[in-house]
Parts: sequence; structure tokens; C-alpha cells
Amino acid sequence: MRRAFPKTLAAAGLMAVAVLLAGIAWAANDSARKSRVPMPNIPKALKEAEPGHAERLRNDHRQLLVHKRDQTMRRGIRTTDDSLKECVACHAVPGPDKLPVSAQSPEHFCRVCHDYAAVSIDCFSCHASRPPKDVANANKGGGGGGKR
Ligand code: HEC
Ligand code: HEC
Ligand code: HEC
Repeated sequence: MRRAFPKTLAAAGLMAVAVLLAGIAWAANDSARKSRVPMPNIPKALKEAEPGHAERLRNDHRQLLVHKRDQTMRRGIRTTDDSLKECVACHAVPGPDKLPVSAQSPEHFCRVCHDYAAVSIDCFSCHASRPPKDVANANKGGGGGGKR
């Protein structure tokens, strides 16, 4: 029994994360109930991601983004993997005008959970929160975009 203890602790940690995420999904679902959308309100990505992406990012995107930033800024490594530009491009959410909404909008992918969890991030004061072109071109990459 004694040897099982650290495993129990790890399991408790995982449970805590699961409970947090369930809470978010529940809240999204709750607000979705009032609209016509039947499912949790986290907007769908525009393209497929590699297997395990959603689980990995759901649990770890903070660490991942910060790690990536350190690689780029301190070590000059620039790849498109896990780049913030890629995130906002594939996770772009079209607004009423069909153009991607910026982080000013509560519909923005990154805000749906954050607003609920009362997380606020300053990343988009420097980084663009939407792809430079329209949603149809969102995954063609390319720079530019400017603020928000
Ligand atoms: C090429 C497309 C693509 C890119 C690039 C991408 N994602 Fe995703 N992401 C997806 C897909 C597909 C899902 C599964 C849910 C869905 O279909 O919307 C997902 C799910 C997620 C989830 C879980 C959402 C939920 O429903 O619980 C998070 C968080 C997330 N992505 C964050 C990120 C971040 C941060 C980045 C940049 C490092 C990123 N993603 C880059 C396609 C992408
Ligand atoms: C004060 C402005 C500023 C703020 C705020 C800021 N960044 Fe950055 N970030 C930069 C600059 C400048 C670079 C370097 C761009 C380059 O050299 O390619 C960078 C690079 C990055 C990169 C590597 C390039 C990429 O997209 O792959 C990531 C990831 C990143 N930042 C994430 C974040 C996250 C997450 C936050 C919020 C927690 C954040 N940044 C807040 C200015 C900022
Ligand atoms: C599935 C829900 C969900 C989505 C979607 C999501 N986040 Fe988060 N994010 C969270 C939660 C919950 C936290 C707080 C817990 C943590 O740090 O993991 C958080 C924390 C963060 C933090 C750390 C904030 C701090 O003060 O430490 C950053 C940076 C961040 N998210 C960036 C993003 C970006 C950029 C996107 C969009 C590409 C995004 N998140 C999308 C749920 C989400």
C-alpha cells in the first residue's frame, strides 16, 4: 500500500486538472444551452491537428507557449511548431463579417476558457490575436497582421 502513495498523489493531481477542465466544459455547455449551439462552446479549429494535440494543449499550453517563447527569444530558434501565429490561425473564429475576431471579442478562441477561468493574458498586446488575412486564408501562414 505504502508504495502506491506517490501514484495516488499523481492521480490526485490529474483529478484536480480533470475537475477544472470539466468545470470549464460544463460552464461552456451551460452558456451554450441558452444559444442554439448544443455543445460546449469552445469554437472548432479550422483544420485537423496531430493526434493528442487537444489533450496536450488543454493540459499544458501555458508551459508550452512560454517554453517556445524562451527558445525563440533567448536561443533564436524559430519554428512554426507551437508558434502563437499558428495557434491563432488554425483556431481563428469568424465574426459576423466572416473575418476572424480579435482577442477584443469574447468569442475569440483563447478567451472562451480564460474568461470563465478568470485568466487574463497580456500576450496579445504585442502578438496578433488573429491571422493576417481572412479565415479562408488563415492557414496559408505568412507574417504581418500587426496588433490584435
Ligand atoms: C492546424 C490546426 C491547429 C493548430 C495549428 C493548433 N491547434 Fe489547437 N486544436 C486543433 C484541433 C483540431 C483541436 C481539437 C478540437 C477542435 O476540433 O476544435 C484543438 C484543440 C485545442 C485545445 C483544446 C480545446 C478544447 O476543446 O478543449 C487547445 C487548448 C488548443 N487546441 C490550443 C492550441 C494552441 C495554444 C496552439 C498553438 C500552440 C494550437 N492549439 C495550435 C487544431 C489546431
Ligand atoms: C512586450 C511584447 C510581448 C509580450 C507582452 C509577449 N510577447 Fe511573445 N514575443 C515578443 C517578441 C518581440 C517575440 C520575438 C519574435 C521573433 O523574434 O520572432 C516574441 C516571441 C514569442 C514566441 C515565439 C515566436 C512564436 O510565435 O513561435 C512565443 C511562442 C511567444 N512570444 C509567446 C508569448 C506568450 C504566450 C505571451 C503571453 C504570456 C507573450 N508572448 C507576450 C513580444 C511579446
Ligand atoms: C480549453 C480552455 C482554454 C483555451 C482554449 C485556452 N486556454 Fe489558456 N488557459 C486556460 C486555463 C484554465 C488557464 C489557467 C491554468 C493554467 O495556467 O494552465 C490558462 C492559462 C493560460 C496562460 C497563462 C496565464 C498566466 O497568467 O499564467 C497563457 C499564457 C495562456 N493560457 C494562453 C492561451 C492562448 C494564447 C490561447 C489561445 C491560442 C489559450 N490560452 C486558450 C484555458 C484555456
